Amino acid sequence: MKLIDGKALANTIKEEIAIEVVALKEAGGKTPHLAAVLIGDDPASAVYVRNKVRACEKVGFKSTLVRKGAETTEAEVLEIVKNLNDDPDIDGFIVQLPLPKHIDEEKVNLAIDPKKDVDGFHPMNVGRMALGLPSYLPATPFGIMQMLDRYDIETSGKHCVVIGRSNIVGTPMSILLSRKAKVGNCTVTLTHSRTKNLKSETLRADIIIAAIGRPDYLTADMVKEGVVIIDVGINRVDDASRKRGYRLVGDANFEGVAPKSSFITPVPGGVGPMTITSLLMNTLKSSRKEIYG
Ligand code: GUN
Repeated sequence: MKLIDGKALANTIKEEIAIEVVALKEAGGKTPHLAAVLIGDDPASAVYVRNKVRACEKVGFKSTLVRKGAETTEAEVLEIVKNLNDDPDIDGFIVQLPLPKHIDEEKVNLAIDPKKDVDGFHPMNVGRMALGLPSYLPATPFGIMQMLDRYDIETSGKHCVVIGRSNIVGTPMSILLSRKAKVGNCTVTLTHSRTKNLKSETLRADIIIAAIGRPDYLTADMVKEGVVIIDVGINRVDDASRKRGYRLVGDANFEGVAPKSSFITPVPGGVGPMTITSLLMNTLKSSRKEIYG
């Protein structure tokens, strides 16, 4: 069993980005600039956004945080989006989700210029991804593709079972892994809450992407020897022995499945740290005009 160390890989990629930023600046280029929009006072969102801004500083990007209260109207958010679309110094931006309930997330997403949509959530980027055209990939799938690539995990001809069909993880993973590409060429089965006899599917899997959001869902009896397990789950379970009263666990029962696996991502320290790296990579791609020219 080999552990896929997402934290170490994310640091390696950040160092690579930092070197590229120095080279860009030395060549007289513009400093990549990411903006984040945070509406309301959801504490988890505030932490995520702070981490994104910090990561920008670490690699030498410029960052801008637009923070507004929960009473901000939809029209005001759309105005913020328009200003960021029109600001030539901003290479990319994200609107942190969830938004307060009175704001239509779909409407806001559609208002973002696809060229600056470094979250990869706009239908233009989703569609381009599905067609195999250059696009910004959403953070978690992009991070997973990086892990498979950098750990030289063979995907071609392999049977991959994705558990969970969300728009931001399961569905894009199923598309990316079936694409004709270096990391790709898998035979993919996309499973979900209506799947009958999930175990019969996972037992056939060479690669499992677990993105269902339920602690210890994937157990040792559900996987075959040598399987590659990418665990996307970040679930809190009560743990009185911890100072904060809980610990984080993935969707896979790590102790059970790890001995049977050839590669596995831990939780925490697996997929999670890679997501911010994806955002930085997308911002760098935008500043270099790699996707849309
Ligand atoms: N909320 C949770 N994850 C994400 C993400 O990847 N992007 C945005 N914009 N909001 C989120």
